[in-house]
Amino acid sequence: MTAAQTTPSPVLDKLRLTPGHATIVGLQWGDEGKGKVVDMLAAEYDLVARYNGGANAGHTVVVEDQTYKLHLIPSGILYPDKMNVLGNGVVIDPAQLVKEITGLRERGIKADATNLAISDRAHVVLPYHPYEDKLLEETSASPIGTTGRGIGPCYADKALRLNAIRMGDLTDPAKRRAAITRVVAFKNTTLGALAKAHGRDFTPFDAEAIIQATESHMAVLGPMVTDTASMMHLATDAGQSVLFEGANATLLDIDHGTYPFVTSSNCSSLGAHTGTGTPGHQVPNIIGIAKAYQTRVGEGPMPTELTDATGDRIREVGREYGTTTGRPRRCGWIDLVALRYTTRVSGATVLCVMLLDVLADLPELKCCVGYTLDGEPIDHFPAGCDALARVGPVYQTLPGFKGPIDGCKTLADLPENARKYLDFIADYLGVPVVLASVGPGRTQTAMG
Ligand code: GDP
Ligand code: IMO
Ligand code: MG
Repeated sequence: MTAAQTTPSPVLDKLRLTPGHATIVGLQWGDEGKGKVVDMLAAEYDLVARYNGGANAGHTVVVEDQTYKLHLIPSGILYPDKMNVLGNGVVIDPAQLVKEITGLRERGIKADATNLAISDRAHVVLPYHPYEDKLLEETSASPIGTTGRGIGPCYADKALRLNAIRMGDLTDPAKRRAAITRVVAFKNTTLGALAKAHGRDFTPFDAEAIIQATESHMAVLGPMVTDTASMMHLATDAGQSVLFEGANATLLDIDHGTYPFVTSSNCSSLGAHTGTGTPGHQVPNIIGIAKAYQTRVGEGPMPTELTDATGDRIREVGREYGTTTGRPRRCGWIDLVALRYTTRVSGATVLCVMLLDVLADLPELKCCVGYTLDGEPIDHFPAGCDALARVGPVYQTLPGFKGPIDGCKTLADLPENARKYLDFIADYLGVPVVLASVGPGRTQTAMG
């Protein structure tokens, strides 16, 4: 049995979490601070498992004077005794993963087969995927503003089935050679034709070079490739607990997000089950992560976006620039209509409100509590982006609070107006706010 399941844990109690598995999921458009909360909570769990996305994610963990930016590796990696899992729902770029592992090892962090497992069912991103991603974006009349990491093309190949490669195909040299040779020939035909149709030069991908590079990557990754679903079943049977780490966020979910301006995986908490092979009833805790305001990177409607001095102030104080691409993030007031929708889709049982310190010293705080569509009130979050783009936010204004607040250790330590802001959010959503993050560091956290 695990510490989490046998001994009362003050942290789990403070966060109102019951013993057993928990999912950490973003409730907005990403970058809510999931990495920080996963790192904080990993100490309480036995395994940390990514279930979706790939190197499009950028999860920041700050421990004292050290900052770690994780893209593929789960944010539990800083604890040497925790098993980190890349589930079948993740798409893995071997070059990127090896780079990340090497970077961690150079900083003295253990990342090997004793604490990192990769699903043999996870699909592989190879160099033609980022190329395809960028070519499609650059030639589209309505680009999505992707991270360019090849995520969409890899998931598309997975769904098409004919030219997909899984991690399990790369462990055997003969199988690896055959698969890469076949798929590269196919991609050179299709991508070459597409590039030429758009008047672009096309240099065919060199299958032999990709085989050689993959061979060296698999020398590092091969020992980590395993049947992670079975591994997690055995761990669960043995009473161990899993922390599922969502990448991207519920509004970017391929089914439930602001389609088509989404990513290509199920990044709501629902994906934790398909993305690892763990059934839903085994995960009683869903920890929803939301910023104290709203941000978005890339294209797509954002009803509370601020293009004025307040938006610029939030961006500068919150250092709202992409962890993966460095792009400036669009900033705006918290959107409770969108959050109520995502809280329900992801089934959040508790809520963590992040980057609350960024709002300190603003004279007033606005919360979007309703939408109008073409001037008429609506009571739902529209499915279509054309409708969402025409939505007008209805705001309730709350008084601001003074900083600094980064020394607050409990919710009761926060200034009264900050507490009122959190209470307002909790009341509107019907979900308790159990944690307010007041700075990027592990310990800059108010809870209980
Ligand atoms: P993730 O993708 O959800 O893990 O979030 P990112 O790492 O992309 O972005 C969150 C950013 O906010 C990172 O730079 C964090 O270090 C930082 N951060 C997290 N929590 C806080 C907080 O409470 N206050 C401040 N000021 N920064 C925070
Ligand atoms: P984390 O895990 C913020 C966005 C991209 C783009 C859209 C599609 O750090 O919160 P993709 O490359 O996935 O095809 O891009 O989704 N996006 C993210 N935005 N944080 C992320 O991850 C994101 N992952 C994807 O900006 O708009
Ligand atoms: Mg991020």
